[in-house]
Amino acid sequence: MKGVEVTVEQVSRAYGDFKALDNVSVQIKKGEFFSLLGPSGCGKTTLLRIIAGFDYPDNGKVEFDGKDILPLAPDKRQSNTVFQTYALFPHLTVYENIAFPLRLKHVDKEEIDKKVKEYVHLVQLDDHITKKPSMLSGGQKQRVAIARALINEPRVLLLDEPLSALDAKLRQNLLVELDELHDKVGITFIYVTHDQSEALSVSDRIAVMNKGKVLQIGTPYEIYEAPATRFVAQFIGESNTFPCTVLSCEPYENEFMIKVDVPMLGGTVSVTDYDALEVGSKLDFTVRPEKVRITSTPPRSTNKELNTYKGIVDEPVYSGFQSKFYVRLDNEQKSIVKVFKQHTAFLDDGPEIDWRDTVYVSWTATDGYLVKDTDR
Ligand SMILES: Nc1ncnc2c1ncn2[C@@H]1O[C@H](COP(=O)(O)OP(=O)(O)O)[C@@H](O)[C@H]1O
Ligand SMILES: [Mg+2]
Repeated sequence: MKGVEVTVEQVSRAYGDFKALDNVSVQIKKGEFFSLLGPSGCGKTTLLRIIAGFDYPDNGKVEFDGKDILPLAPDKRQSNTVFQTYALFPHLTVYENIAFPLRLKHVDKEEIDKKVKEYVHLVQLDDHITKKPSMLSGGQKQRVAIARALINEPRVLLLDEPLSALDAKLRQNLLVELDELHDKVGITFIYVTHDQSEALSVSDRIAVMNKGKVLQIGTPYEIYEAPATRFVAQFIGESNTFPCTVLSCEPYENEFMIKVDVPMLGGTVSVTDYDALEVGSKLDFTVRPEKVRITSTPPRSTNKELNTYKGIVDEPVYSGFQSKFYVRLDNEQKSIVKVFKQHTAFLDDGPEIDWRDTVYVSWTATDGYLVKDTDR
């Protein structure tokens, strides 16, 4: 009975001529931690409000466990929402804030007391039960809001950027707590965020949105390693992404070895792919900066499909656990390739590669990736 399956099918919502949601479909599984991820203004809150019942779509269906919920008022949907701004009652204590939804339903006193204590404990606020919101930290306030949203035992919890008002360290801690809370209560969570690292670290699956559309739905691993569109490749993590044209395609182990012409790299790149691609197809080639190696001498390798380019370090950025290098290639386009190098060993003399050094950047054919939908 716990979580609910949420189906959103071909939902659109326009404000005047502006399409806030354009034919959006997502299927969220029972008990899943599902994130809606995308830049500000892409329609995340609009979709959440439609699921919650605070807004209504122009077209499409919204169902909980196969049942049409659009005719139902928000309080009849078995969903509850946590907002970025907490929305607590300032004059009520932690206890009374959390008890509020039960008081509205005229639940008897003893039952309220039992449940409030249970939920206070769940969000680890046992020591703060008599405090007013003004005496709490941001993280504690958000925990009150979460307990208050859960006490009615909804079957889906909607969270709209609940951590964005908090500082980075605290955000990380609360995120871990939220993940544990999700495991404990076992209901469906729909989590809205514009922060890709948040979404990647807690979600079972993610829908990446842009301009009112869902571009890709997948596990964090799928979204990161196999971005479906150029936007997804560039929005999730960092990437080196360049337009390319397929030159040849040969079977290779259980995949295909593709040669692509990448004008911005000034040459041909070898890259493997599960699909046979037509010669002449125009795609994007992408490689993650952490998969690119940087060396001061040409890499010694027997791998004939190693892609190697010579360049000059334009800008090294040392940041403790890693260095970022922006390498300007030695070709007509003078394109930049980003390289992230982890500092896995102690360096006696500091970083061995410096500004203006001549270097070689390289990656294997399996480390690159071809993006099929270039959003062009
Ligand atoms: N009530 C409204 N009237 C007009 N435009 C709106 C309204 N609500 C949202 N929008 C617009 O719809 C777009 C999507 O908004 P929203 O869903 O809040 O985005 P997100 O939560 O992803 O930042 C934005 O461009 C926003 O300005
Ligand atoms: Mg929003």
